[in-house]
Amino acid sequence: MKILKIDHVGVAVKDADAALKLFEGLLGLKVRGSETVPEQKVRTVFLPVGETEVELLEATAPDSPIARFLEKRGEGVQHIAFRVENIEEALAELEAKGVTLIDRKPRIGAGGKKIAFLHPRDTLGVLVELSEHIA
Ligand code: CO
Repeated sequence: MKILKIDHVGVAVKDADAALKLFEGLLGLKVRGSETVPEQKVRTVFLPVGETEVELLEATAPDSPIARFLEKRGEGVQHIAFRVENIEEALAELEAKGVTLIDRKPRIGAGGKKIAFLHPRDTLGVLVELSEHIA
């Protein structure tokens, strides 16, 4: 398995537009784009930071995973995404090492990337997303 870089850091927010005021106004970051992913009931806003990005995550429905996260933990860092060379290979290797996979097969996330989540119980409570960019 080869991890290429931290692809992005996902931050759960109640209101992406309010959060943008902070990230753009206070930190001077610029929005690259915004996308709603209906299957995950989430609106994402990406802000590039050097070689990586911040992904703001806003729930679009009360039963969204982001809505549940906000209820339990409040706003803040929700996941770290590592970009890998080959996501199927990475999932097979991690499963063989005993890591619990939330997604045994990759699904398509924002930007048409292949993504899969690992269960935080095996990664020190950190929700890890693997991501592979397909050209
Ligand atoms: Co993400």
